[in-house]
Amino acid sequence: MDTPKRIALVTGSHKGLGYAIARKLGQQDGIQVIVTSRKEQDGLSAQQRLATEGIEVDYHPLDVTNDFSVQQLTEWVQQTYSKVDVLVNNAGVNPTMQPEEASLLTVQLETMLETLTTNVLAVARITQALLPFMQAQNYGRIVNVSTEMASLTTIDSDYYPLAPSYRLSKVGLNGFTVLLAKELQGTNILVNSYSPGWMQTDMGGSEAPFTADEGAETAVYLATLPEHGAQGKFFAEMRKFGGPIALAW
Ligand SMILES: NC(=O)c1ccc[n+]([C@@H]2O[C@H](COP(=O)([O-])OP(=O)(O)OC[C@H]3O[C@@H](n4cnc5c(N)ncnc54)[C@H](OP(=O)(O)O)[C@@H]3O)[C@@H](O)[C@H]2O)c1
Repeated sequence: MDTPKRIALVTGSHKGLGYAIARKLGQQDGIQVIVTSRKEQDGLSAQQRLATEGIEVDYHPLDVTNDFSVQQLTEWVQQTYSKVDVLVNNAGVNPTMQPEEASLLTVQLETMLETLTTNVLAVARITQALLPFMQAQNYGRIVNVSTEMASLTTIDSDYYPLAPSYRLSKVGLNGFTVLLAKELQGTNILVNSYSPGWMQTDMGGSEAPFTADEGAETAVYLATLPEHGAQGKFFAEMRKFGGPIALAW
């Protein structure tokens, strides 16, 4: 009898890092990927591009900041697969290039709120919706895409811009990872954060040293962890160190 495929959902996966993660997971035997995007045309186009490479993914619209959209996705997952095995929380926004983000004295609180809404609250929303599928089968892998800019241990010595909205949102995401890991102790549902490094995407810009494909490597590693694998950790991009390395929070 065939082993049922793992169902892997990647948020914001029509382009950039999310697309690269969906593509790499979709290349693995035994994984059925669900590509999601807030604009349907974007997602359908990504699905077609992957199909030209022989990677057959499913697609469903998803705006992670919208309760109704998450509810519709959850109902569709229930009807179509009755489970989710892997959730990659990739969708994110980054207003760091706005001049106001150079100082806490000028940062626009509205921008900070919007950033927290997408990068933290939306992760809580989609996790609340999909975790019950994982709990029902005592299997799950949750990958939260963070950044080393959110490491509180190195924040006073790193060379990145101040970027308060973005950093605080990813600090919040990392905190979410730790708290969820505590709640999931003793289960086979593993949740981790990771930093993909500075990549050539719309967010990272063309000057970035690494490709989205390179940034996707650690996501695939964390999405396919074995039982008793890492729980509640913060990983660096694997390519930088030649293997999985945990960062200081
Ligand atoms: N690029 C880097 O150097 C870098 C470094 C460290 C961490 N990261 C993280 O990597 C992740 C992916 O970033 P990227 O570089 O691939 O950036 P990107 O090309 O700008 O992609 C961001 C993705 O998030 C989606 N998104 C934003 N808001 C959404 C919402 N409300 N609902 C659903 N999807 C939403 C975008 O969809 P739309 O096209 O509809 O906006 C897009 O698919 C982010 O979490 C980012 O913080 C990136």
